[in-house]
This record gives sequence, C-alpha cells and structure tokens, in this order.
Amino acid sequence: MELEKLKERMWKMGVVPVIAIESPDLALPMADALIEGGLAVAEITFRTEAAAEVIKALRQSRPDILLGAGTILSIENLEKAKECGAVFGVSPGLNPLIMKRANEIDFPFFPGVVTPSEIEQGLGFNTNVLKFFPSEASGGTAMIKAVSAPYAHLGVKFIPTGGVTINNLKEYLKLPQVLAVGGTWIAKKEMISEKRWDDIKKNAAEARAVSKRVRG
Ligand code: 3PG
Repeated sequence: MELEKLKERMWKMGVVPVIAIESPDLALPMADALIEGGLAVAEITFRTEAAAEVIKALRQSRPDILLGAGTILSIENLEKAKECGAVFGVSPGLNPLIMKRANEIDFPFFPGVVTPSEIEQGLGFNTNVLKFFPSEASGGTAMIKAVSAPYAHLGVKFIPTGGVTINNLKEYLKLPQVLAVGGTWIAKKEMISEKRWDDIKKNAAEARAVSKRVRG
C-alpha cells in the first residue's frame, strides 16, 4: 500500500489496537469485533507464536482490515510480516539493521522513539512516522509537543503507544503531530483468549466515536 494512503487511513481511524493473540482460530472473530465496532485496523504483535498465521488468515479472509505487524524485533519477524500480508510494521525501539532491511524490501516501518536523537535516527532512514513509546511514562502529550517542535516542518508524525486509554485518547488525538495512537486496551490478550467479542466491539466503538468527534 502506498505510504500516503496508509497514513490517511491511520489518521482516519485514529486508534490502532495492539493485539497479542494466541491462536489463529481466534483471528477472525477478533477482527470481526473490531470491524463491527468501526475500527478496521490492527497491529498483530510478534509476541505470540501465532502472529504470522494470524496475519496470513486476516489478509486472506478480512482483506479490508488495515493490517500491521508489531513487536518486530528481528529481520526474520520483519520479512515474515511482509510475506504474510501485513502492510506496515512497528517496533518498540529503533534497530538500524531492521530499518535498513525495511527500506530494502520497501515495507513501511514505524520504529519506536522518544528522544530527539532517536527521532533524527529515524529521519536518517527516511521515515517521518514514528511510534512514540512508552508514551505516558515518557511524558505523554506534553513531551510530544516539546520534542516535536524542531521537526514539525519535516512533517514528523507520531503513533503514541503505552499508557493510552479511552480516558486520555482525546488529549492525544487533538495534537496535529499525532497520526494515531496505539493501545492494548481495546482488545487485551485475556479478552481475546476468553472470547469476549462484545467487550472488544464496545471498546472499539467507544474509541472510534472519540476519534470521529475529534477529527470529524
Ligand atoms: C505495546 O504493547 O506496544 C505497549 O506496551 C502498549 O501499551 P498499553 O498496554 O499501555 O496500551
């Protein structure tokens, strides 16, 4: 998917559910709960053995969902994510080896950063979309405002993740520097394993309603 289109879709959704899922059998009902809640986007993290199979299943059976891969900590994760059909990747930190490979295989990749030096490292790999992690513990919206000022003219955008919930979502989405937020609160690991689809749908709908209110 073309990067501008990807950014536009992320901005419109405003929230990227961060998912840790233990079984490919749970992938479709989980995705349907998100879609029914109006949030057709997911970051499937490589924190479980099932991640690659889940991405593959979603790509085949729910092609309309904006599908990302998260917790990409190795070149192997990165290549697998692309091969299975993810259209973007995310990592908690910035690993130059992974950045280099992502550029080589033309895979949109958003590394985790907090500091100016890390932002500039990201810019050096030609990306101006960066995960801001761990957001709340690093100062949240105040830190994002402070750190982004010298880079605004380069169009730097953040995906704050870590401590974002329905309670502070609005504060984040109001910032022009925020492309979207990421968070596990919408579909926590245990909610998925306990098949609490109605709860996931409700959380997705609540988050979507906030992003619609803030962004129109
Ligand atoms: C992540 O998994 O990327 C973050 O730890 C998510 O943080 P959260 O659980 O506070 O949303």
